[in-house]
Amino acid sequence: MQTYLVGGAVRDELLGRPVTEKDWVVVGATPQIMLEKGYTQVGKDFPVFLHPRTKDEYALARTERKAGTGYTGFVCDASASVTLEQDLQRRDLTVNAIAKDANGELIDPYHGVEDIAQRVLRHVSDAFSEDPLRVFRVARFACRYHYLGFSVAPATMALMRTMAASGELEQLTAERVWQETSRSLMEQSPQVFFEVLSESNALASWFAELPPVPNPEYEALAKAANDNAPLETRMAVLCSGLTPEQTDTLLTRLKAPNVVADLAKMSARCSHTLMNSALQATDIVELFNNHDAWRKPARFAALLDTAGYLASVTRVNGYSSRRHALEQALQAANEVDVKAIVASGVKGPDIKKAVFAARCEAVAEFTVSLQ
Ligand code: CTP
Repeated sequence: MQTYLVGGAVRDELLGRPVTEKDWVVVGATPQIMLEKGYTQVGKDFPVFLHPRTKDEYALARTERKAGTGYTGFVCDASASVTLEQDLQRRDLTVNAIAKDANGELIDPYHGVEDIAQRVLRHVSDAFSEDPLRVFRVARFACRYHYLGFSVAPATMALMRTMAASGELEQLTAERVWQETSRSLMEQSPQVFFEVLSESNALASWFAELPPVPNPEYEALAKAANDNAPLETRMAVLCSGLTPEQTDTLLTRLKAPNVVADLAKMSARCSHTLMNSALQATDIVELFNNHDAWRKPARFAALLDTAGYLASVTRVNGYSSRRHALEQALQAANEVDVKAIVASGVKGPDIKKAVFAARCEAVAEFTVSLQ
């Protein structure tokens, strides 16, 4: 039995990037042999084992053939006679199909090393199209390695277009698409993920509500990434030109976590108000009320950040002084002594009215910067 390091670990080592996860392929073994050596089996669909000490994943070399639609329906052969070359051939990209043996020798039948040198993401074989998730994976790798100058090979792009046109992308589960999307959003150049999907006509499959590429939202997303903004801010920036209904439809389809969906929907509702509406004292306090700025100040700050990224690319002037005024207004409104209002003898619904009035008075001086 022979073991080889494969996939992302070999690729990232060759790219001089940190290796976070090591995957191994095992040739000439059976599940029985692996279990006898103390490995534990984890794979449900195909034989994958965890090393007894390192807990790295060791998969028996296998071939896969599609026998149905969607992600399911693969016929897998993981018998001891499957060769390393056969295992590498079922993989998505040449840069992901390089193996390294125990002596550090590379086994590279599909010329991944050359594609790494040429900065090309190229499919290994036509079997690429058997897994529609690969369209999103290529877009993710393109955005992750954008800073290194990588691009998608024209033939791979053509294949991705064919896959998008076939309607197969819609059959993926939301969880898998969201995983690729959220990972891509957190990369250095997340806008490239959407550019590649757009170029392969795949944007409509899961992101129909997003504006066509190019658009200021994608530029704003690049700025947010440049600032190391968190995931929810990046998604909110992307949705800031949509209606709240479109944002809801998009993020429900993607099954995005609540923290992401909440900020994006709020941002869709109020980005333009924050950027350039004339705000009177009552508008400001209503804005704080509607977004629960009292109990969720960090989320309100994220809303201000989101509007800031959009303002910077749509050439809205004076946003930083508007933002400053809103921050000061929030601080002043927070200083209103609610307990003292209650203690003064106001009762029932009048308490709410009195607090609102006191807060309006507190923020009034900041309205000058918000016209
Ligand atoms: N793979 C594939 N097709 C997929 C998923 C995975 O061919 N849809 C293969 C690729 O050879 C890949 C390897 O399985 O390199 C491991 O997959 P995974 O751990 O998902 O990705 P990595 O390439 O390790 O990338 P990342 O750094 O993003 O984890």
